[in-house]
Order: sequence, then structure tokens, then C-alpha cells
Amino acid sequence: MLVRLMYASRAVPAVDQEELVSILKKSKANNHKSGVTGALCFSEGIFIQVLEGGRSAVNQLYNRIASDARHADVVLLSYEEIEERRFAGWSMGQVSMQRLNPALLLKYSECAKLDPYAVSGKVSMALFEELVATAAIMGQ
Ligand SMILES: Cc1cc2nc3c(=O)[nH]c(=O)nc-3n(C[C@H](O)[C@H](O)[C@H](O)COP(=O)(O)O)c2cc1C
Repeated sequence: MLVRLMYASRAVPAVDQEELVSILKKSKANNHKSGVTGALCFSEGIFIQVLEGGRSAVNQLYNRIASDARHADVVLLSYEEIEERRFAGWSMGQVSMQRLNPALLLKYSECAKLDPYAVSGKVSMALFEELVATAAIMGQ
């Protein structure tokens, strides 16, 4: 039984590039062990993360992440049972914002700014799907 979950949150000011690297390192090690895959996007203080894997593994991980003091305003954007993974190649891939085409953001929102609080979960998921398709994800 596989599920895919997507949430957004606001990083606390102390989160810098070094902290991001540390989160990704820990995520890759833990997720590899629990069979969770996904991708993490960090831009202008906002996180969007997709987690996929077994239902209990994903639910437990989401509860743990939601209580992490390094971010706040955690909002669940999407939760669905799935037949196959989309992020099978990444224990936790990092979406590279440098390589993200502003036209892609404009395609799905009013301005070229990543704001998951202003769009539907469906739209955020569609954006993520395009990111994967255009291979703008690092850290296999
Ligand atoms: C935005 C964000 C995303 C995170 N993603 C993951 C993740 O995918 N996997 C994970 O194990 N921990 C993730 N964490 C870290 C967890 O909140 C928690 O610190 C960690 O899982 C604790 O692991 P440990 O018990 O092995 O020390 C994330 C934290 C933040 C702030």
C-alpha cells in the first residue's frame, strides 16, 4: 500500500544553506532505511516536500517532520493512495531553484514566485511533476 503526501511550510529564519544540506543528508539516510522517496524544494523561506512510500512509514515521517522546530505553518497540500511512485529514484531529491525556469512558475500562478499557500494542492503537485520531467532535481 503506497501513498504520496505533499505539504508546504515556512522555514524559521535560522535555516540557511548549511542547515538545508544537513536536513537533506539526514533525510536521505533515514528515508533509504524506511523505503520513503521524494523531493524537497526550498525557495525564499518556503519548503514544499513530497513524500511517498508505505502508508505507515509516510504518516509517521510526516508527523515527525511537522513537529520539527526548523519550520512552521506546516500545511498538508495533498494525500493520496497511489499505485506507483513518481520519485522512485530519490531517497530525497533537492529541487534546484537555480535551474527552475520562471516561466514554469508563471504557468501555474499569478506571478513567478513559489507560493503554495496561494494555489491549490493540485497546482503545486502539477508544478512538481514538471520539475521531475525536466530533471531539475539533484541528489539521486
Ligand atoms: C523541511 C524538512 C524536511 C525534512 N524531511 C525529512 C525527511 O524526508 N526524512 C527524515 O527522516 N527527516 C526529515 N526531516 C528531519 C526530521 O524533522 C527529523 O529531524 C529527523 O527525521 C530526525 O531523525 P533522527 O531521529 O534519525 O535524528 C525534515 C525536516 C525538515 C525541517
